Amino acid sequence: MIAVRRERTPGERRVAATPETVKQLVGLGLDIELEKGAGEAAGYSDAEYKEAGAKLVAAIDLSKVGVLAHVRPLDAKTATALKAGTVTVGLGSPASELATVRALRDAKVTAFALELVPRISRAQSMDALTSQALVAGYRCVLEAAMRLPRFFPLYMTAAGTIPPAKVLVLGAGVAGLQAIATAKRLGAKVSANDVRAASADEVASMGGTFIHLDLDAADASGGYAKELGQDRAQRQRDLLTPHVSEADVIITTAAIPGRPAPRLITTKMLAGMRAGSVIVDLAAESGGNVEGTVAGKDVEVKVASGTITLVGMKDAASTMPYDASRLYAKNVSNLIALITHDGKISPDFEDEVVAGACLTRDGVVLHEPTAEALAPAQKGTK
Ligand code: NAI
Repeated sequence: MIAVRRERTPGERRVAATPETVKQLVGLGLDIELEKGAGEAAGYSDAEYKEAGAKLVAAIDLSKVGVLAHVRPLDAKTATALKAGTVTVGLGSPASELATVRALRDAKVTAFALELVPRISRAQSMDALTSQALVAGYRCVLEAAMRLPRFFPLYMTAAGTIPPAKVLVLGAGVAGLQAIATAKRLGAKVSANDVRAASADEVASMGGTFIHLDLDAADASGGYAKELGQDRAQRQRDLLTPHVSEADVIITTAAIPGRPAPRLITTKMLAGMRAGSVIVDLAAESGGNVEGTVAGKDVEVKVASGTITLVGMKDAASTMPYDASRLYAKNVSNLIALITHDGKISPDFEDEVVAGACLTRDGVVLHEPTAEALAPAQKGTK
């Protein structure tokens, strides 16, 4: 039986299954049990789930679950309540949720963490980092547009001409590219910078102007960026400063897997910005790309020309729960489909996607960096 509960994290509005994915899973011969009201905050009614073939229950009995689908990482108490061999599918945040990983390991749960899905073409339909970054990148631009005391598009009116807003996007991964596309759709003049070699072409393909800084590319494996050393990071900040002063809106999305967000903008660099300018920091929850941002808050900063606003994004994908859930639930159901054979859950661990996404199994933490983070206190890791 596949179980889906209402998310427990305060403020989380997404859900791990939609009526559409319930239909997909029922079509595979699986039974779905859904806690009543699980989809309510995302905009999906119990009636829709029922019609799609789910059984609605007042409470899920965790000890009877075959697969537990979830959005946010489980808490340790939930993990402990699962019986050995239960499969979990959802976000795991293994680097920060070590207590849960320990509990999943000790309960002998087969836990799949969607962050660990290999970023290869075959696995794209299960890649929740990508689907949720798309939502976040879009949302950042809307947050900026709502606060900016200017238009995004160019207006030529009888009362005069209004130039388009200048938007600078720093970090042009999945979220950054969506931010570029969204700002372009709103009519802004968009430029962007990233440290990966491929990013110039990617920015251009979205209609943005790439800012070439006199810095060598910093690529790590798997398409990710490498952390810049102190000197290069300072040089990047120095070279970015005039572009920061030029921008009406800055969207920052830079990240390094497993590391705090790189500091791209310091308070000093804000000095030349125009009054009313807005900076949205998508990395606010992981340390912040911008000095002074606070996740979930707006911070006003005094500069020479007046005041600018720093927006610390928090739970960005959850702010658009209907479509974020639509994509996320598809990621979940596609992974469940991958581990289902003849109507039975039977993961093939020879498959690189299945093996790569598996965090714990049979009392062992399979993801090496997480196993290392848990050592030496734990036994039973490989
Ligand atoms: P991410 O969330 O780890 O980082 C966001 C962006 O920040 C990246 O583009 C990174 O290069 C950039 N960054 C890091 N340090 C920076 C700095 N000092 N200054 C400016 N930018 C900085 O990355 P995300 O968005 O998850 O994607 C990373 C890569 O993975 C991309 O190349 C993307 O195309 C690739 N990808 C591949 C997929 C597949 O093949 N299935 C799926 C999704 C992404």
